[in-house]
Amino acid sequence: MADTATPTVIRRADYAPPAFLIDTVALEFDLVPERTVVRNTMRVRRNPDAAHAAHFELMGEQLEFVSASIDGTPHSAVRTHEHGLSVDNVPDAFELTLVSLCNPTENTTLSGLYVSSDNFFTQCEAEGFRRITYFLDRPDVMATYTVTLRADKAAYPVLLSNGNLLDEGDLPDGRHFARWEDPFRKPSYLFALVAGKLVKLEERVRSGSGKEKLLQVWVEPHDLDKTRHAMDSLINSIRWDEQRFGLELDLDRFMIVAVGDFNMGAMENKGLNIFNTKYVLANPETATDTDFANIEAVVGHEYFHNWTGNRVTCRDWFQLSLKEGLTVFRDQEFSADMAGGATDEAARATKRIEDVRVLRQMQFAEDAGPMAHPVRPESYVEINNFYTMTVYEKGSEVVRMYQTLFGRDGFRRGMDLYFKRHDGQAVTCDDFRHALADANGRDLAQFERWYSQAGTPRVTVSTHYDAAQHRYRVTLSQGYGDAAPTARETQKGPLLIPFAIGLIGANGADLPLRLEGETGASGTTRVLEFTQTEQTFTFVDIAEKPLPSLLRNFSAPVIVEYDYSAEELAFLLAHDSDPFNRWEAGQRLATRELLSLAARAATGASLQLDDSVVNAFAQVLTDETLSPSFRELALMLPSETYLAEQMPESNPAAVHTARQFVRRRLAEALKNDWLAIYERHQTPGDYEATPDAGGHRALKNLALAYLAELADPADAVRLAGAQYDAANNMTDRAAALSALLTAATAGDGRRAQEALEDFYRRFEKEPLVIDKWFALQATQRGSAQRPVIDIVRALMSHPAFNLKNPNRARSLIFSFCAANPAQFHAEDGSGYAFWADQVIALDALNPQVAARLARSLELWRRFTPALREKMRGALEKVAAQVKSRDVREIVEKALG
Ligand code: TRP
Ligand code: ZN
Repeated sequence: MADTATPTVIRRADYAPPAFLIDTVALEFDLVPERTVVRNTMRVRRNPDAAHAAHFELMGEQLEFVSASIDGTPHSAVRTHEHGLSVDNVPDAFELTLVSLCNPTENTTLSGLYVSSDNFFTQCEAEGFRRITYFLDRPDVMATYTVTLRADKAAYPVLLSNGNLLDEGDLPDGRHFARWEDPFRKPSYLFALVAGKLVKLEERVRSGSGKEKLLQVWVEPHDLDKTRHAMDSLINSIRWDEQRFGLELDLDRFMIVAVGDFNMGAMENKGLNIFNTKYVLANPETATDTDFANIEAVVGHEYFHNWTGNRVTCRDWFQLSLKEGLTVFRDQEFSADMAGGATDEAARATKRIEDVRVLRQMQFAEDAGPMAHPVRPESYVEINNFYTMTVYEKGSEVVRMYQTLFGRDGFRRGMDLYFKRHDGQAVTCDDFRHALADANGRDLAQFERWYSQAGTPRVTVSTHYDAAQHRYRVTLSQGYGDAAPTARETQKGPLLIPFAIGLIGANGADLPLRLEGETGASGTTRVLEFTQTEQTFTFVDIAEKPLPSLLRNFSAPVIVEYDYSAEELAFLLAHDSDPFNRWEAGQRLATRELLSLAARAATGASLQLDDSVVNAFAQVLTDETLSPSFRELALMLPSETYLAEQMPESNPAAVHTARQFVRRRLAEALKNDWLAIYERHQTPGDYEATPDAGGHRALKNLALAYLAELADPADAVRLAGAQYDAANNMTDRAAALSALLTAATAGDGRRAQEALEDFYRRFEKEPLVIDKWFALQATQRGSAQRPVIDIVRALMSHPAFNLKNPNRARSLIFSFCAANPAQFHAEDGSGYAFWADQVIALDALNPQVAARLARSLELWRRFTPALREKMRGALEKVAAQVKSRDVREIVEKALG
C-alpha cells in the first residue's frame, strides 16, 4: 500500500519487454500461519530482446528478506526497497535463490498468501505473487514451476498446488510434505497453493481423445453435500469446450477449491481453480435458481480460461480483456447452449436478455462516469480497479461482434488460427483481432476502435418508405452524444457496427429482405455493416410500409435512438420474431412511461398510467404460448438505478415513486391474472434445477411480488406465509420472505418478522444463506417511519456481521449502497455518511473491496443539486482519510 501524494500512473504506451527472463521456478514453503518461510530458486537469463539492465529488479511487497545466493554462493549485492529487491553484479545466466518470510494470518487484503477458516489459500492475480516471494511479477514472464509444500499434518492434511502431484510423504515432528509440478509455462499470476482440512468430491472422466482425467471439488467437510452441481458444471464445461471449440483439458487432474473469504468470484489458476464458496456450494435448500445458474457460468468461465488466458495469456495488464472479454463471451455461449442448445432461440434469448440487462445497467453507467475507459485501457494507477464491466462485459460484446460478422464457423476458424499462432505465448488484443481477420480474409483495422474508444455509441435511425417504388430506406448515423470527458478524449472516428435488422409487415410476419443491388431476397434478418458516420441502406421489393426491428439480438453494444410510437412498441412486443427485440419493445415502452412519470413525480404532480400500456403487458403475461421465463423478464420493470441514469438529473426518490406507482397499478389492474398465474405455475414435487422448472418458479414468484404491492396485501401475506413454510427450496423460500417484507410496508409486519427470525435460526450454520438474510433486509422497501439505514446500522452490530469477510460486507453494505437507491440516496445524506464510514473502515482492511464500494458514488455529478452537494462532501471526507492506492484512484477520479 503506497501512500505517496501523486500516485504513479502506468501507461500502455510505456510497455517495454522485461530485461530478464525466468525459465524455471522451484518454490519451497514451510507453512506456518504467522510466519511462513518461502525459498524461491529461479533460473534467470538476460532477455535477448530487451535493453541491457545494470541490476536485476524484482518486485516484492509485505515480505521480510532473509537471504540471497547466486549459483549456490551467498550473494550480498542485494538491496531491498519500497517496491522489492535489487540484485547487482549478476551474470548473463544464473540460478538465484531467495529466502523470505510473510505473515498469512495478518493478511486481510486476501491478495497473496492468506488464512481463511484456519486453511491457507493464495490469490495472485493481478499482482499478488509479489506478496509471496520476490519476483518479476508481470504476465509476460512465463516459467515452469515446481512447488514443495511442508506443513503440520494434523492441521493441514491436504496440500495442493498447480499441475501434477510428484511426491508426498511424512516428515519429522508431525509434519508432512507434497511436491507438485506444473508442466506448462505460466505467468506468476496463475500460481496457487491450498493447504488445510478439506474434503473432496471426485470423479474420473475421459476427455475427447480418450485420456482419463481426475476431477476434484475441494470444500470444508460440512459442505460436501453442496458440491454435486459444481462437479456437473465442470463436466459439462469440459464437454462443451471440446465440442464447440475443439479444446481439450491438457492436464491429468483438474481441481476446484472453495474458500469463504475471497475478493471476487473465482480464479483460474492452472489446474487449481480457487472459488468463492458462493460460486461452488449449492443444494436446493440453500441455493436459489439464480445461484445454480451462476455456479454453472462461473465454473465454465474459469475452466474456459485454461485455453483463453492460461495457454494463451496477456502480454501486459492493458490486454486484460484479451482473456476476460473472450472468456465471458465463452461462458455466455456455454450457458445459452446449456439452456437451449444451438437452436432453441427462445431459451437462448433468456440468457441474452439477462446479459444485456447487466451490460446496460452497469457497463453503460461506467461509460458515463469518471471511470470510463476503453476495453483496452490506456493507463491505470491500480490494476485491480480495472477488472471492470467494460473489460469483462463490453469486452465480451466486442468478441460477440466478430461472431456476428463471420458466423459461428468463421469465428471458430479465427479461434483455431489464434491458438495455432499463439499457444504458449503472452499476446495482445491486436494479435487476437489479426487472427480473426486473417482467418476470414478481412481487414479489421477499423474494428480496432472498439478497443481504443470509450463511451457508449449512439446509433440514430431514420426511415423512409417510398410506396410508389416499394423501397424502404434506413439511414443510420453514429456518435457518442455528450460523453463523459474521459471518454471523449478517446473518440477518434466511426466504428464498424454490425447492425442486425428485420422488417415486419402489418400481419406481424417478417418480410423477406433484399438490399438494393442484390439479385434476390434472402432471409428475414440482415446484419448491416455500418462503418460511416452516416450511411443509408435501401431495401427493395417492400410491398407495404414495414415496422423496423432494430439491432436484433442486441448485435452491438450501442444505444439505438428511433422514434417508435407507443402503438408500434406494443405491436413489436406482441409480434417481433426476434425474442430479444420483443422483450426490448416492452422495456422501451415501460422506460418511456416511467421516465415521464418520474418527471411528474419530481414536481409533485399527480400520476396516471394509460390503459394501453397496462393492456400491452397484460397480453404478454397471459400469453401461454410464451415461455414463463420470457414472461417473467418482460414483466420485470427496468431497475430504479437504470431509470435514474436516463433522467437529465438523477432523482432516485422520483424514480422510486414512479416505479412503485406503476407496480401497484399493474398489481391492481391484473390482480386476478396474478392470482391465476400464481396457482398455475406451481412446481410441486421434488425440486428440479432445470431452466424449465426455474422459469415456472420465476414467473410464480414475480406474481407473488406484484401481489405484495397491493394496497391491501392480505392475499400476498397469506400466500407468501404458506409458501415460506412449505418451501422445499431456497428460490421459493427467499421469494416468500421478500414478498412478506414488501407487504410489511403496507400491512403489519409481524408475519415478516417471524419469517426473518425463522430464516436466521434455520440457516444459522450456512454463511451463504445468512448473506441472503442480510441482503434481503438491506434491500427492503422501508418507510418514513422505518428508514432502512436504521436497520442496516443495527445489523452492523449483529454478532454474525463481519467486515473482514467480503461476502458478508457485500451482503449488507453493498446491498444497501448499490441496490437500494431510494433509501441510500435519502435526502438527509444519512446513506452517504454511512458509505463514507464503511469505505474508510474497509480501506484499512481490504483495499480491493473498499475500492469497489467507493465506486457507488462515482456518478455524483449527475444527481439533483441537493444530493450532489452531499455526495461531494462524503467523497471529500473519504479522499482526506484513505490510504490505499486502490481507493484513492477511485475518489480522486470522481472528484477530478
Ligand atoms: N481472473 C479472475 C476471473 O475473472 C478474476 C480475478 C481477478 C480475481 N483478480 C482477482 C479473483 C482477485 C479474485 C481475486 O475469472
Ligand atoms: Zn475471468
